[in-house]
Amino acid sequence: MCGIVGYIGKRDVAPLLLEGLQRLEYRGYDSAGIALHASGKAGGLKTAKAKGRVRELEARLPKRFAGTTGIAHTRWATHGAPNDVNAHPHMDNDEKVAVVHNGIIDNASELRARLTAEGVTFLSDTDTEVLAHLIGRSRAETLEEKVREAVRHIEGTYGLAVLHADFPDRIVVARNGSPVVLGIGEKEMFVSSDVAALVSHTRQVVTLEDGEMATLKADDYRTYTTEGSRTSAQPTTVEWEAESYDMGGHDTYMHKEIYEQADAVDRALRGRIDDRFSTVHLGGLNLDARDARAVRRVKILGCGTSYHAGQIGAQMIEELARIPADAEPASEFRYRNPVVDPDTLYIAVSQSGETYDVLAAVQELKRKGARVLGLVNVVGSAIARETDGGIYVHAGPEVCVVSTKCFTNMVVSFGLLALHLGRTRDLSVADGKRIIEGLRKLPAQIAEILANEGEIEKLAAEYADAKSMLFIGRVRGYPVAREASLKLKEVSYIHAEAYPASELKHGPLALIEPAMPTVAIVPDDELLEKNRAALEEIKARSGRILAVAHQVQEKADHTIVVPKNEHELDAILMGIPLQLFAYHTAKAMGRDIDKPRNLAKSVTVE
Ligand code: F6R
Repeated sequence: MCGIVGYIGKRDVAPLLLEGLQRLEYRGYDSAGIALHASGKAGGLKTAKAKGRVRELEARLPKRFAGTTGIAHTRWATHGAPNDVNAHPHMDNDEKVAVVHNGIIDNASELRARLTAEGVTFLSDTDTEVLAHLIGRSRAETLEEKVREAVRHIEGTYGLAVLHADFPDRIVVARNGSPVVLGIGEKEMFVSSDVAALVSHTRQVVTLEDGEMATLKADDYRTYTTEGSRTSAQPTTVEWEAESYDMGGHDTYMHKEIYEQADAVDRALRGRIDDRFSTVHLGGLNLDARDARAVRRVKILGCGTSYHAGQIGAQMIEELARIPADAEPASEFRYRNPVVDPDTLYIAVSQSGETYDVLAAVQELKRKGARVLGLVNVVGSAIARETDGGIYVHAGPEVCVVSTKCFTNMVVSFGLLALHLGRTRDLSVADGKRIIEGLRKLPAQIAEILANEGEIEKLAAEYADAKSMLFIGRVRGYPVAREASLKLKEVSYIHAEAYPASELKHGPLALIEPAMPTVAIVPDDELLEKNRAALEEIKARSGRILAVAHQVQEKADHTIVVPKNEHELDAILMGIPLQLFAYHTAKAMGRDIDKPRNLAKSVTVE
């Protein structure tokens, strides 16, 4: 949510920053802007900003806009409408300071009132502008001290980068709650909100901690705390390749990421299966057999798609390990003063590892002495670092704002965890073996589902006229229905609602008519007949039905047949055709699939 990028070195900075912004655009795409130290005699800071996408900014760059040091931002609006004025970078009244900021300043109104009373003129409605004025008005001698002084006034979260006209040899950056990653090059340094903007230039990175700042010069950097004491953050090498961020011949990242799922699942399994004991090795879990046996309950916390993955995970843990488990939106959990139980294992699930509500829930749990594990995609992210151990889901970078491959890998990772917990309890060797065989079948079965894209595309065209759609499933199928309904509404803007099939008679049947199609998840499990009865009820009211099932459903108008796995793992596969269904529906409607309106990836604000 909001992306910052900066560069200091010898190269022409504007094209580099534009490229960085393109890579970060999924974090926000309301407006974008650049500030640089202008080369030439006049020097000073120059900015360019534009409402809309990075390409609008590119089209608007002034002719003479050159320099070798600059910062840039792509915005997802929190305070103030998305327009040119509210776009970052923000400057002080003397135009000596330029700031880009990701996060929220909670006491912005208070600071704004105080600064206005002191004679400052505010140009924008943003919270960030207070930072530019605070830095600009500081009488401290160095830029580092000025920034340090300013952030001391700030309550809230920030990842920020600052230029100052009087200090053209440096960029000063600071982090508290919003990610800041430094990229180390050959006589050049980069800074970014995430590695996406860095990997095409360098894979040597330093991730700042909360409360840490850094000074970047072309051939050097140093890190220190906001109190001024030096820190010794060590560089690490990014695993993900630059090519993973390219579209690779697909028309959208969503399509590419749907197609990457077989490989991604293979990666999640690699090196983790122990055939000898029919279990798995999860190196980073920090949960030995004794700890695992002591767990009395599992509580999974996540938001959006990750919460849905958690719902499937909870069912897997109950089924395979017979430990009571449930999932709850982290955003709700953290506000209801939950009872924190020492015998409960808490699991925070997140693609980005940055989602503020999840991070806040983890921090609250840790304050209360709970054991919290992470199930995270981005290595070294805030949630990964805050938790006591966990599982990396290894989906690879996910660029499309809507999650697809990461959802699948999260569910697979929950399958691994459930198997691990189960095998420390009552899950037999034979059942362990059966689940392992099921997991191993997944990549080929995913490929089989994707080979059916042509048929799914035709079905999407058939249903794209619907104004509203109902998604139903029962027990294992219900979270699949919820996730599929979220996917459709996010990318197509068609209203979609998910219900347990068992609840139809308690209200939603009133909605059924030909104009309100139903997508039904109908696995071949012990609930097959119950699900068929629900289809009968819908058909009797002239509802149109698209079933996702292991065999053709007579009562449905159309069935997408998916390959059968073990009952406990079926939920992993049944949503995949519906990702393609959402994609093709949105495509037929001409939607901006990778960047749905009003959304951004990595929700780093409340
Ligand atoms: C939907 C989607 C979101 C995210 C949610 C949590 O397609 O991607 O619902 O799942 O914002 O994000 P992470 O997983 O990064 O914590």
